[in-house]
Amino acid sequence: MAVRKLAESVYSVGAIDWDRALFDELIPLPYGTSYNSYLIQGSEATALIDTVDPVKADQLLANLNKLGIQKIDYVIANHAEQDHSGCLPLILEKYSMSSVVTNAKCKDFLIDLLHIHPDRFKVVSEGETLSLGNKTLHFTMTPWVHWPETMCSWLEEDQILFSCDFFGSHLAQSHLFMDDPSKTYQSAKRYFAEIMMPFKPSIKNNIKKLEKFSIRLIAPSHGVVYQDPEFILSAYRDWVSDRVANKIVILYVSMHGSTLNMVEHLSNSLIDKGLSVRLFNLINADTGDITQELVDAATLVLASPTVLIGPHPAAVYATYLVNAIRPKLKYLAIIGSFGWGGKMLEYMENLLTNIKPEILPPVIVKGLPKSEDYLALNQLADHISEKHATLA
Ligand code: FEO
Repeated sequence: MAVRKLAESVYSVGAIDWDRALFDELIPLPYGTSYNSYLIQGSEATALIDTVDPVKADQLLANLNKLGIQKIDYVIANHAEQDHSGCLPLILEKYSMSSVVTNAKCKDFLIDLLHIHPDRFKVVSEGETLSLGNKTLHFTMTPWVHWPETMCSWLEEDQILFSCDFFGSHLAQSHLFMDDPSKTYQSAKRYFAEIMMPFKPSIKNNIKKLEKFSIRLIAPSHGVVYQDPEFILSAYRDWVSDRVANKIVILYVSMHGSTLNMVEHLSNSLIDKGLSVRLFNLINADTGDITQELVDAATLVLASPTVLIGPHPAAVYATYLVNAIRPKLKYLAIIGSFGWGGKMLEYMENLLTNIKPEILPPVIVKGLPKSEDYLALNQLADHISEKHATLA
């Protein structure tokens, strides 16, 4: 990876991971990702903002060598998770006079996660500054984006916000700055869906907190740098708002065709009514596509057959995931089928403890749907249509 320049004496020195297929062993990455690290050379001191995932340590070291960096005074740790902090031990060993600059909570995390010696830290708190001579860093605490210890660093003279995970996107590309708004938006939304969505209230507060800074560039630690900060700020404001899109997501799995038959009937009825439907077969759907659609969907329909006495495991997994990421759904329905009995509906309902959408009447069918079952599905479609007509 090449060294790329953000401003005078400010460089991107991190790594592009073109090949990474999964993040957190959970979300597929169709466009890879990057671990951004930034070097600031002040007239008196040099600071490195975050490091990279240890799998890309060689790229970080090569970039620092390319710039001829002999001395790093401060390594700013905005976040303790290892895709950014994992190379701290290596950097502290190579640049033996450097200190880790972070907040007290992040210090504790880094001691536990990486066994960094407590003497290597310089602890900063809300509003503190760090002078590098002709450049000044300001620190502000932004907890729960997406860990409790996260902070942002703002470079006053160049008006650059180093936001770590906040505003990040899973996007590997050779250009430092955003050059494909549509692809960037989708990649940032996929990223937000997995790790940020459960913390919407904290994110809303933290966006407000950043208003005190005049921001020319937002430089996150994944994906592109934003020359138009409002592009990603307004996207985030929308994603954390109460606004939902007039959209129904249907997640289904079917073993012998009964549940599929129900799903097709329901989705066709909804489409006939002019509603927007996204259908995902849980056996082969991309988890990132599903979570991305759930960022703003108004309604979710979960559809499962009965395996032994409960839902299909694929439906259990999906329901668990929905509950964990806490989408702002307004309405939810469960439909499905059984052969000889079971408690599929109860199992599914019991998994949904974190979210409080209005639960619409379920449709549970024995065997292949009959005429009265299709009628019940038509009524569910009417119900959803009426609810969606009230959305702003
Ligand atoms: Fe990109 Fe929370 O680490």
